[in-house]
Amino acid sequence: MCGIFAYLNYRVPRTRKEIFETLVKGLQRLEYRGYDSAGVAVDGPNKTTDINGNSICLIKKTGKVKALDEELYKKDSLNLDQELNTHFGLAHTRWATHGEPSPVNSHPHRSDKDNEFVVIHNGIITNYKELREYLINKGYEFESETDTEVIPKLIKYIYDNRENDEVTFSTLVERVIKQLEGAFALVFKSRHFPGEAVSTRRGSPLLIGVRSEHELSTEQIPVQYNSAHINGVQEKNHHNSSSSMKSTGEGRAVEYYFASDASAIIEHTNKVLYLEDDDIAVVTKGELSIHRMNRQAGEDPVRAIQTLQMELQHIMKGNFDAFMQKEIFEQPESVVNTMRGRICFDSNTVILGGLKDHLKEIKRCRRLIMIGCGTSFHAAVATRQILEELTELPVMVELASDFLDRITPVFRDDVCFFISQSGETADTLMALRYCKDRGALTVGVTNTVGSSICRETVCGVHINAGPEIGVASTKAYTSQFVALIMFGLMMSEDRLSHQKRRLEIMAELKKLPDLIKEVLSLNDKIKTIANELYQQRSLLVMGRGFNYATCLEGALKIKEITYMHSEGILAGELKHGPLALVDKHMPVIMIIMKDGCYIKCQNALQQVTARSGRPIIICSKDDLELTKNAYQTIALPPTVDCLQGILSIIPLQLMSFHLAVLRGYDVDCPRNLAKSVTVE
Ligand code: M6R
Repeated sequence: MCGIFAYLNYRVPRTRKEIFETLVKGLQRLEYRGYDSAGVAVDGPNKTTDINGNSICLIKKTGKVKALDEELYKKDSLNLDQELNTHFGLAHTRWATHGEPSPVNSHPHRSDKDNEFVVIHNGIITNYKELREYLINKGYEFESETDTEVIPKLIKYIYDNRENDEVTFSTLVERVIKQLEGAFALVFKSRHFPGEAVSTRRGSPLLIGVRSEHELSTEQIPVQYNSAHINGVQEKNHHNSSSSMKSTGEGRAVEYYFASDASAIIEHTNKVLYLEDDDIAVVTKGELSIHRMNRQAGEDPVRAIQTLQMELQHIMKGNFDAFMQKEIFEQPESVVNTMRGRICFDSNTVILGGLKDHLKEIKRCRRLIMIGCGTSFHAAVATRQILEELTELPVMVELASDFLDRITPVFRDDVCFFISQSGETADTLMALRYCKDRGALTVGVTNTVGSSICRETVCGVHINAGPEIGVASTKAYTSQFVALIMFGLMMSEDRLSHQKRRLEIMAELKKLPDLIKEVLSLNDKIKTIANELYQQRSLLVMGRGFNYATCLEGALKIKEITYMHSEGILAGELKHGPLALVDKHMPVIMIIMKDGCYIKCQNALQQVTARSGRPIIICSKDDLELTKNAYQTIALPPTVDCLQGILSIIPLQLMSFHLAVLRGYDVDCPRNLAKSVTVE
């Protein structure tokens, strides 16, 4: 998905080289989102320069950020050592939606050959065809195939037709976004407004990091924002943070970082402000102010500066070769972080702070509907059975896109869960708005604080797995799983009939980090099996009951990063079709645990072996019969049935990682995929 990064230094002298380095570093932090081209806009010589010597230079390149970085230093016309006291630079990684990856289709897009206005965009403009036609009729010439290009053209059109010269940059942007339909996060730069930045969003995330002169030179001194200087911005301590921002009144040195996600900002500052839909954030003479579209006099909103809890080391690879690998091995800690402060193992109680005030309402509901996409959907499938058991409510699991396609009936007494690692997935967000419109109670289960799903749901649970950078979701899945289990435990706390079951689950949750470590110690064995399999074209994963979700999720991991065909098959469906695929050449992984489906799974195993299949069996290490007789086994520590899926997915995460490495693919950035899918 596209990545936005922009950097403004006000009265903080930086050489052009330093500015390039900051912009490129920002893009590198966003690389994990997936992209196919990149570009920057900086002050610098262009073919035309205005009477004040202002001009903007665009540099764009197809391929990796590294290629763009090399290109920057080839520009002889740019004096890299020149010190710029105040400067605003834009940078962008593009993931093609309209028009092939090419420099001309890459961002920043421009208003005209003189680069009067340039813009970077994340999202999709759905009415771009009408706007384009209108502007072409007005004599504006387009150079790209993108939807984005209408934006700089439109702002120039409005500027060219302004009533007077007093018009501000933010007014121009406000007029532009009134004409736009679709989703966007936008950052604008203009040679008519040197040193000024305007950004806005609707439906796509955008945040602004602030680093002030005082913060750079002194210890943190709590100073309240002066609303005369920071119009509409107020400090708020977030997550119990005790630090605070200082005023950045005119004249004070300050740096601003604009980005589509926090990972590009965190190494510069942990003080950030998340924009809301239709906010217009303006930096003029170093002052940040927020305006609302259609603002009435005296109606400026208050926006909170938050302190990010994320640290740079959390988004670095450390000793691992890939983020995905690091995230798989983080799971003993990430599941603990999900439970921290919520489960009390002494009193066997669970309190999810974000849900406790709504518990009565949830208990009275007609049904629970759990909605998500991809891995997040699988977390719903994985926990459905235990949630039905513990809540005694009907639980529907829904793929967000299909749920919307079917125009599914939703009622006021439904409780709808929106499960999303990023909290920005467009289909899930649309489903959330759909359920909200129908009066259902909406609950978010997300990993990204401040994300759209977080903000738009009535209540929710942060899974606290930490930043997940690899496109293939791993630790977020196990943390979503644990969060949903905790919800079931909280719902059943006052049910006498469930106490035995609850205690059994809680005892196993307590052991979970050690159990996960034990599974991770099988890494070498799994690598050896991957060595036998990596040249295969297909891989089937079979199971049922509590492990059906593992099959779906394991197969998704395999197809996503190894590009092998892989299918997660419900073992109960085997004889209704998939059995036809099985012969001695087809690799099959079977998950057979000692649970309610044990006998049925053994039947499925016999059906596979009777067709000369040689299954690799994921089973419990105390299952001596299976471990003795199977062709290959991956023996896991036993645990309670409803938590098995947390352990059984890990060998498949590791397997997909090793297969992808052996097949020579980029594990963290699989082709055609993006980490955060902010388009429908
Ligand atoms: O951020 P979300 O959890 O909403 O993302 C949903 C899916 O796009 C995501 O889980 C996707 O399936 C993963 N890349 C799979 O590993």
